Amino acid sequence: MPLLQVKDLEVVFEQEHKELMVVDKVNFHVDEGEILCIVGESGCGKSVTALSIMGLLGQQGHVRSGEVLFDGKDLLKLKEKELDGIRGNEIAMVFQDVMNCLNPSFTIGNQMAESIRIHLGYDKKKTKEYAIQLLEKVGLPDAKVVMKKYPHMLSGGMRQRVMIAMALICRPKLLIADEPTTALDVTIQLQIMKLLLELREEYHMSILLITHDIGVVAEMADRVVVMYAGQCIEETGVHSLFEKTAHPYTEALLRSVPSIYDNEERKLESIQGSVPENYQELEGCRFAKRCSYATKECYAKQKYHEIEPGHLVRCRLEGVLKR
Ligand SMILES: Nc1ncnc2c1ncn2[C@@H]1O[C@H](COP(=O)(O)OP(=O)(O)OP(=O)(O)O)[C@@H](O)[C@H]1O
Ligand SMILES: [Mg+2]
Repeated sequence: MPLLQVKDLEVVFEQEHKELMVVDKVNFHVDEGEILCIVGESGCGKSVTALSIMGLLGQQGHVRSGEVLFDGKDLLKLKEKELDGIRGNEIAMVFQDVMNCLNPSFTIGNQMAESIRIHLGYDKKKTKEYAIQLLEKVGLPDAKVVMKKYPHMLSGGMRQRVMIAMALICRPKLLIADEPTTALDVTIQLQIMKLLLELREEYHMSILLITHDIGVVAEMADRVVVMYAGQCIEETGVHSLFEKTAHPYTEALLRSVPSIYDNEERKLESIQGSVPENYQELEGCRFAKRCSYATKECYAKQKYHEIEPGHLVRCRLEGVLKR
């Protein structure tokens, strides 16, 4: 049984008395100890998917149907209190916008202590020792100094490390990281990615890593889910994604998106056109209008089907891609 299994997840947002489906029957799973990357252009529903798993969608959005099975339990059916028992304990999340997650008026030490107290109930001395140990673990050797600082006194990279340390407090089985480094400069991004890989080994954690950086996918992922306009359009192992790319959108993504791992040789092309507005109303392939391989059959409903074991694609044009 996978650690996390998302089944037919549909998320809608109320907008001007209309329901807008922004996540459309999304399916994927995360196995124990693996890193699954979700990749796709801005606005394709990556964050909404992650927030739904954590029950953090907010007011306007709600899950219309589907299941989020964690260790076999459907998180969508749990009461807020039961969910609280899993959030922060067994599943932890790291966001892109760290400043919004840390409280500006408390020191790092106080915030960590509070969280350790709530989750683990350690006494004062043990709490401090544990906080220092975690900060050192995430590459902040001056942990004692960091503890005394307020969030604004730290660099962006240091704050992200603090967030990761806080996520580790309960040794979560699953870490959800939603673009955890995009606000940081490239060197720091690379360091944080390396840290996540090390922590995965040490903690035997699974990681659901959301990114729009295809280079991050190549370096980090075991398996990959590609999203486009609210749907999963391709899922496969990381090598297969690059070697046996099956969806024209994935192919375009591989050629087009700049990466923190880029070398000078890679020539970037842009994907022509943009994500269609009101894509919810399109019955057929949502990428068809931008796809250079599309034929009129592509405008009919497309099945998300398996072309090789573990390799799923929502495209009828199997085998047309130039490899
Ligand atoms: N609170 C909201 N109300 C209405 N629509 C929303 C809300 N939050 C997100 N959406 C819509 O849901 C869609 C998916 O958004 P989401 O934030 O999941 O995209 P994303 O893939 O994470 O993009 P990015 O790479 O920019 O973070 C977008 O079209 C967005 O406009
Ligand atoms: Mg997002």
